[in-house]
This record gives sequence, structure tokens and C-alpha cells, in this order.
Amino acid sequence: MTKRIKRIGVMTSGGDSPGMNAAIRAVVRACAYYRVECLGFMQGFQGMIEGDYIELNARSVRNVINLGGTFLKTARSKEFLTEEGREKAASHLKKANVDAMILIGGDGTFRGGQVFSKEHNIPVIGVPATIDNDIFGTHYTIGYDTALNTVIDAVDKIRDTASSHNRLFFVEVMGRDAGFIALNSGIGAGAEEILIPEEDLGLDRLLNSLERSRRSGKTSSIVIVSEGDKIGKNVFELAAYVKENLPYYDAKVTVLGHVQRGGRPTCFDRVLASRLCVKAVELALDGQRDIMVGMMNNEVQAIELEKALKAKPTINKDLLRISDILSV
Ligand code: F6P
Repeated sequence: MTKRIKRIGVMTSGGDSPGMNAAIRAVVRACAYYRVECLGFMQGFQGMIEGDYIELNARSVRNVINLGGTFLKTARSKEFLTEEGREKAASHLKKANVDAMILIGGDGTFRGGQVFSKEHNIPVIGVPATIDNDIFGTHYTIGYDTALNTVIDAVDKIRDTASSHNRLFFVEVMGRDAGFIALNSGIGAGAEEILIPEEDLGLDRLLNSLERSRRSGKTSSIVIVSEGDKIGKNVFELAAYVKENLPYYDAKVTVLGHVQRGGRPTCFDRVLASRLCVKAVELALDGQRDIMVGMMNNEVQAIELEKALKAKPTINKDLLRISDILSV
């Protein structure tokens, strides 16, 4: 028989993403609704290792749904990668009578959680939150939509100056080794070219396309470059290479960087966080363990953590074709 869940722990881990506060709020409020206690662990796995937690009730999460970042803080804990670190975390959780943990984060968080659950028999439920959208088993991760909107907002501004000066801009966006942010923001921002790690279009094609653009009468252009792009050059080398081969281009570089991780979450991310986290609590109460909740075709579904970690979500390459058509 599965043990009755009376106390749930929650934490945020890995790179922060907008909507993490909305996610914590949903966990805490769902716990209050179902009359179970909730503890918030500070700085992800590190707070579990140090026994650093706070008691959370429905009122502790007032006025946080609209805030970027995470009030529980986050970290990428090196100590949790060790058996001793996980041992310390387990002993703190047991002392605090935590019956299940809800882990809000990305694949690194889930990997740690899976090992931990196996070693110490503490159920974990993962909630995907990362701006990269690189988790299998969900069409959307919490924070991705906000990051996309941040990128297109920034690129719209860059477009103003690019067109005033007749310039070419290379804009580097985050995503680690996945091109979701680049591909979708590239289309949303009307970019000339989109360079992503999943598809090596080659340098010649880039030069040809830029040359064609100029001949067709375009006076300024924007190229979105994913940070994980494998074209063999970083964004600065890429701009230099284009300048060298197409000297009429006045090429500039903007690296958007961590600005993509901040800001008020969009409505989409708040609703996503709310739906995923209510389900995460319900599944924990139902005695489920070592799963991740995800949003597939607008339905909240659960998938085994092991499955979610084994595969990578695939990018929709048809979007590259759309981008090609629209940048004629
Ligand atoms: O995973 C989220 C992310 O923002 C990636 O897009 C990026 O590569 C990485 O984190 C940056 O990590 P850090 O904030 O540790 O530099």
C-alpha cells in the first residue's frame, strides 16, 4: 500500500525561467486546497542538502504569480552530484517528514531527482521549466513563451536601428544546444536567416542568401543565431566572415544573453505553470512517483522521468521552410 502523503516539498533548480514563481504558487495553493503541508527548499538541491527550507501556506505565495525569477532561488548544485550530497539531502527530507518532492527545472534537475529517488526511496515529480524548451514529453516548458516574447521585443528594437543605418545584425539567442528559441523567435521577428544547431545550413548558403537579399532591394537584415549553432564559428567570427566576403555589409552583433531569462511571465506561461503544478500535486497525492508532467496538445499528461530523459524533443524543420519563403 502506498504511504499517505501529508507533506510535500517543492524547489526550483537549474537556470531560472519566468513562470517559476507561478509554478511554486500553484504547488503551494494546491497543497492548501488538498490540506497537505508544503515546504519550500531554497536554492534547489542545495537547500535540500543544507536543510534550508521554509514553511509555505496559501498566503505565502500572494502577489508572486506576476514575478520573474524564483523566490525560492535556484542553483546548479555540484554537491548533489555526489552520493554524500544526496545522502545529506535525504536525511534532511526524512527529518522534515517530506513524503514527496516536486522538482521545478530542466533535464539536469530531473536527472538528479531520478537518481535521488532510486537511492533514497523518496518520490519525485518533475515540472519542466526552462527557457530552452528542450524537454521531451511536453510541447512547452515554463518560461519558453516569455523568453520568445523577450527576444522578439529586443529584435523589433534592433530592427529600428538596423533599418535606420542600413545594417546587418547578427543576434545571438540562448537555447543551449537546442534551436527552439532561435527558430520561433526568428519567424516571429521576421529574420532573414535563422541558424540553429539541428540544421547546419553552411556558410556558403548564408552568404548566398545575404547577397540575394541585397540584390532584391533589402537595405537591412537580421540573422538570428542560436548559441548552440554548429556552423563552426561563434557569432562574432560569423559577422567578421560575412564582412570579409560581402564587404558592402555593415555587420553588427548583439548577444541577448541573460535578459532572456528575466521579466514578467506571459499569460501563457502562468497558465501552463498553474495547470502543470496542480496536476503534479494531484499525482503526488495519488501515490505516483518518478514522473514528469507535461503539456501535450493542450492536455496535461504524465510521462516517466526515465522516458523524458532518454529522448530529445524534435524541432519542426518545416519552420525553416516557412522562414525561407517569408524572407524572399
Ligand atoms: O538552460 C537555460 C540557459 O539559459 C541556456 O539557454 C544557457 O545556455 C544557460 O542556461 C546559461 O547558463 P548560466 O546562467 O549558468 O550561464
